[in-house]
Amino acid sequence: MSDRYLDFANSGIGGWLTGALGLPRPLPLRRRVEGGATPVGPLLLGGSMRLSSLSHRLAERWGVELHAAAREDERYGGLIFDASDIADMAGAADLYRFFHETVRRLGPCGRMVVIGRPPESMVDAEGEAVQRGLEGFVRSLAKEARDGVTAQLLRIAPGAEEAASSSLGFFLSPRSAYVSGQVVAIGAAAPVQMFAERRRVLITGASRGIGEAMVRLFTTEGYAVTALDAPEAETDLRALVIQIGAEALSLDITAVDAVERLIHSARTAGGYDAVIHNAGITRDRTLARMSEAEWDGVMAVNLGAPLALTRALLGAGLVRPNGRIVAVSSLSGIAGNKGQANYALSKAGWIGAVRRLAVEAGAGITINAVAPGFIETRMTASIPFAIREAGRRMNSLGQGGQPVDVAETALWLAEPDNGGVNGAVVRVCGQSLLGA
Ligand SMILES: NC(=O)c1ccc[n+]([C@@H]2O[C@H](COP(=O)([O-])OP(=O)(O)OC[C@H]3O[C@@H](n4cnc5c(N)ncnc54)[C@H](O)[C@@H]3O)[C@@H](O)[C@H]2O)c1
Repeated sequence: MSDRYLDFANSGIGGWLTGALGLPRPLPLRRRVEGGATPVGPLLLGGSMRLSSLSHRLAERWGVELHAAAREDERYGGLIFDASDIADMAGAADLYRFFHETVRRLGPCGRMVVIGRPPESMVDAEGEAVQRGLEGFVRSLAKEARDGVTAQLLRIAPGAEEAASSSLGFFLSPRSAYVSGQVVAIGAAAPVQMFAERRRVLITGASRGIGEAMVRLFTTEGYAVTALDAPEAETDLRALVIQIGAEALSLDITAVDAVERLIHSARTAGGYDAVIHNAGITRDRTLARMSEAEWDGVMAVNLGAPLALTRALLGAGLVRPNGRIVAVSSLSGIAGNKGQANYALSKAGWIGAVRRLAVEAGAGITINAVAPGFIETRMTASIPFAIREAGRRMNSLGQGGQPVDVAETALWLAEPDNGGVNGAVVRVCGQSLLGA
């Protein structure tokens, strides 16, 4: 649905009025439709040289300029500061100097990426303190940023530099428009052999909202998509797959024969390279008033069924080697929410599940969660006006996200060369004030 305040604040009279009254003026975010799928240059690189050769190779691939020193009067599309070698308090001042001098040079919807190391890999307490401190620094930078600018911290383990290319591409590009203030750990991953055949993805809850955006984006990116939704959504599902050329699977994931039917479908497809658990429901009510059916229904759709399907697919070898599993969690699972004890448990449950399954899955398979904040869908359109407005504005970007923002993040996590991000929870919430 449309965001009337955002449209008004960016109109002629609205811009003048919000300026005169000192009201916030959130900028419409630049996504791939407006800005393309690769980083917008020029990029400025500062700090240690650990990622220098990788950054130069990537910049060449993306077709953008990369500067090793700020040029006078240049406006930058992105700033990358490699803080990997900072091991003491004195070194932290380099971080201050770099951003102090360059942060105003970023154009609208610019990107800031700080590279660090896992704090526990440092040799002493001061080193661990400073590397851990990067988290507070980046989150503050993201909160100070304006005009759609975002900031993230990538903690790259020693030896995992090559595995960071997919994440650098994502976080420096318009694809990550609604992701800010995130800390992503990247571990070493074996290089993946690329096959000529199309990668196959299963997406659940696919007929509308975030699922529909995923089906469209993955199809555009060349995936063969199996779009699953409940029988009640069959009309919409069929219309969608006919329009874009995907395959429909009409299945209630909580049905008694759901595992059997999915395994059959997966075998026929020759297994999946990616599985996106997006289907979800809410049955909101304070706990004292909540019926057992409301509790059980949410638990089954959001956690029990997708977990059982995941185990069955992994057990039958139907997630292909180097496969990617992505679960859609929620900010509610991180911060909790009044009236959502059932939903919050189910969504927080995925955070535990991905951590455990990341270790257990094997065969180069990764499993991660995305946690959307306020996304403009039918689910959020039904929220009462005042709460909806608060949800939209209480984040660093001053607006709600679009379904495509969650789809883009799932696509990045599903990339074949993104084997270094595993067991992570990445928020797609414009750095919501909720839940830290
Ligand atoms: N919209 C938001 O702001 C937001 C925020 C955080 C998390 N999420 C999560 O994102 C996901 C998608 O949300 P949305 O806003 O697009 O919701 P939506 O209600 O528009 O879509 C949910 C889809 O899941 C399907 N589904 C429900 N029960 C099913 C079942 N038993 N079997 C198969 N399919 C089933 C529905 O038919 C529907 O197509 C959900 O998991 C939701 O919890 C959404």
